[in-house]
Amino acid sequence: MMNNIIKSLNKLKKEKNAVILAHIYQLPEIHDIADFIGDSLELSRKATQIDIKTIIFCGVHFMAETAFILNPNKKVLIPDINAGCPMADMVTAEKLKKFKTKFKNPYVISYVNSSAEVKAESDICCTSSNAVNVVKSIALNKNLKDIDIIFVPDRNLGNYVQKVSGIKMNIWDGFCPTHNNFILPEYVIKAKKEHPNAEILMHPECHPAAISYADHIMSTGTMCKYIKKSSENEFIIGTETGILYKLEKDNPTKKFYPVTNLAECPNMKKITLAKVLDTLINLKNIVSVPNNIQQKAYQPLLKMIKISA
Ligand code: 13P
Ligand code: SF4
Repeated sequence: MMNNIIKSLNKLKKEKNAVILAHIYQLPEIHDIADFIGDSLELSRKATQIDIKTIIFCGVHFMAETAFILNPNKKVLIPDINAGCPMADMVTAEKLKKFKTKFKNPYVISYVNSSAEVKAESDICCTSSNAVNVVKSIALNKNLKDIDIIFVPDRNLGNYVQKVSGIKMNIWDGFCPTHNNFILPEYVIKAKKEHPNAEILMHPECHPAAISYADHIMSTGTMCKYIKKSSENEFIIGTETGILYKLEKDNPTKKFYPVTNLAECPNMKKITLAKVLDTLINLKNIVSVPNNIQQKAYQPLLKMIKISA
């Protein structure tokens, strides 16, 4: 059955000159058919490197929108147009503009988990894998005394970056419901009790009280690379549970324990194989942004993809 679906998908992809990009949090059935799986930064970079007309983006809306901003001449399609990100919705361009007026010389870093309009109001973007380096790059190029850094929308990532870099920022009060509300310190303690030899890896979107138990704090893509190289055999994973399928597939001899199975992003899970097929057949659910917004949002994204993880 799966083989037949993959065969028809491959035929359709060829006919339509399309490629399937998928975020690591996607369902296993999407991992199995994707041409490329990655974290937010890897997917943004990949989107600029492929010479194919149509991108089927299996992830949430801001990710597909980012792919479009970076490739306005390509067709970017999302299999479920309602796959949004509640954290991205916690800041709007209007609210950000108003906040900027409070500062003499605002310099905005927007986490890529934000709308195109918010990116257009930003100086540079970042993802969870390069956020620390993005902030450090600002310190190299600007006198920090002359600017007021604003970080939107994730307070947990912002606070983590501020702590690691030692650079003071004005941090927005947004958060990811999946990471902040479900990956609780008591679950981390319980998992460590049950698996005392396991290393604890956590995503910086988690609440600081939970993160304080982590051995390492890293983005999803960095977790995948770190585990492949590590000589450790057991890991407690503090991020969205979709990553476990990839970790188990890539490291069959290693053991993985989620901090909690409750950490599921309902929006990521809206993308199904049936919807991917439908999107590919009908070339529907086009993601685009107005020309003026695309041009303004392009620069901060371009600056971001030049900065490594
Ligand atoms: P990554 O940057 O690790 O891919 O995370 C994206 C995301 O949405 C986390 O919730
Ligand atoms: Fe947004 Fe959180 Fe889902 Fe990531 S896991 S897409 S931040 S709601």
